[in-house]
Amino acid sequence: FHVDWDAAAAEKGGYPSFMAKEIHDQPQAIADTLLGRVDATGRLQLDELKIPEAELRSVDKIVVVACGTAAYAGQVAKYAIEHWCRVPVEVELAHEFRYRDPVVSDRTLVVAISQSGETMDTIMAVRHAREQGAKVLAICNTNGSTIPRESDAVLYTHAGPEIAVASTKAFLAQITACYLLGLFLAQLRGNKFSDEVADVLAQLHEVPGQVRQVLDGLEQVREIARYMADTRSVLFLGRHVGYPVAMEGALKLKELAYIHAEGFAAGELKHGPIALVEPGQPVFVVVPSPRGRDSLHSKVVSNIQEVRARGARTLVIAEQGDTAVEPYADVVIHIPRTSTLLSPLLAVVPLQVFACELATAKGLDVDQPRNLAKSVTVE
Ligand code: G6P
Repeated sequence: FHVDWDAAAAEKGGYPSFMAKEIHDQPQAIADTLLGRVDATGRLQLDELKIPEAELRSVDKIVVVACGTAAYAGQVAKYAIEHWCRVPVEVELAHEFRYRDPVVSDRTLVVAISQSGETMDTIMAVRHAREQGAKVLAICNTNGSTIPRESDAVLYTHAGPEIAVASTKAFLAQITACYLLGLFLAQLRGNKFSDEVADVLAQLHEVPGQVRQVLDGLEQVREIARYMADTRSVLFLGRHVGYPVAMEGALKLKELAYIHAEGFAAGELKHGPIALVEPGQPVFVVVPSPRGRDSLHSKVVSNIQEVRARGARTLVIAEQGDTAVEPYADVVIHIPRTSTLLSPLLAVVPLQVFACELATAKGLDVDQPRNLAKSVTVE
């Protein structure tokens, strides 16, 4: 009796690639990152944040340093943490931070986000920040790696090992950890938002199930991706937290499918990028919830109309029940309802699947794209 057993295939758990598996592991990555961090009374307990509470209370500026996908997680964090904590948050690419004489003090909290913990650009930014007297908190997926070792404290993401070069599940776990940090600081500082922390945490616990729902409903996206295998350029528009989602969608398509892709802030469209739109140009648009307070939804719907009027093919990611986008969308991809600040965890998933499927249709190795390394250990 003989059984053929392929270790690599077994590790992929029946998926055709690590990338496909890791995309499907995302609900677990978020759930595991939340696990054990909220007590029975609904309060956040981040015991691993070994920075004295008095120091965390006196933080007057947060600077996120990271590279690649991790930097987009930082951009999402900026919207959430500023809203919840009323502390200014800057997000800087780690390799730019260090070389521009940044203003940091002992009241600055530098947050270094890294899946591997070994990205040299980020390590150098951490060292520079500490030399200037800042406290450094690492958000990292790799136990005992260099960045957590060299930081004052670490909040681990529990995404599990990420094998595919391009980051997916670590990204969702990084965003989740950033939310925990923001909510924890709000709770600690007892500001006007602190009463709402429990509500947001409750919503956050719904997200893994919602990500699964998104994953279960993407057959149409896969079909479109296969059909678009010859596409030469794709644009991505988003606003508010949808803006980093758009940039991450574009990055995934560059990394996996070698297609020229750009993510733009939707409000910037009229200031330049709209000149790129010609008939047939595919444009993904990440639409904010129509339930938001500040009319962003209608502004983004206008953007869809503007590109459509110039012949773009519009692929629209919108909240379930958002019928206003329908007249202008060639394709609508629905995501479940959640609060605006948490929506990137849902909105980015169709974009990951689109890139993975399109690259697979082109016959490319989605786990090991050309010219890229999982962890870039040189500056
Ligand atoms: C490399 C990888 C990217 C990743 C970036 C940052 O460029 O190819 O997928 O986002 O490094 O990696 P880190 O391990 O620091 O999150």
